[in-house]
Amino acid sequence: MAETIKKRSAAVAPRGINHLVLNVRDMEESHHFWADLLGFKQVGKLKPREDGIPSMNMQFYSGLDQDDDVNHHDLALVQRDGLQEPPDEWSMFAGTSAVNHIAITYPDRESWLEQVQYLKERGVKMNLRVDHGMTHSVYINDPNGYGVEVLYELPNEVWEHDIDGALNYAKVLPDEELLTDTTEYETKFS
Ligand SMILES: [Fe+2]
Repeated sequence: MAETIKKRSAAVAPRGINHLVLNVRDMEESHHFWADLLGFKQVGKLKPREDGIPSMNMQFYSGLDQDDDVNHHDLALVQRDGLQEPPDEWSMFAGTSAVNHIAITYPDRESWLEQVQYLKERGVKMNLRVDHGMTHSVYINDPNGYGVEVLYELPNEVWEHDIDGALNYAKVLPDEELLTDTTEYETKFS
């Protein structure tokens, strides 16, 4: 017997985005970026199928270790032909990629600073360093031209009273302040 499902007059609010699947030009190149540079762990690879569903070169990735509070996969990569060439210079404001940027949360301020330093030491181009009202962020880009925001979350009490204000707050820091991070967080946004 079919179970009784409550009838809703409005859509159910989702808990959030579960995972993101990106088309990439070269699996090896993108694996290096997302695993070796950003720290995602590969947790799976699509196997050939015999049920008629087309096979793809597809790999799956997750953030924190399996023992922590972790999603089965946060990200998957699919190798595809015919993708547009990435631009020479990534731009949040003038790019033509369908994906503007993907934001990756690091566990806390200390690990974020270590991660930004790790990326800098490996010659990753830092496009933009911004203190937002709800995150402190560095913008880089993947080999396909997708923007990637490397961030840590500020405490809820900094932004939860005015999310729109926090979203509209942006202080761009110069390159030499890439690793200079204040904990005197702005709480008045207008
Ligand atoms: Fe963002």
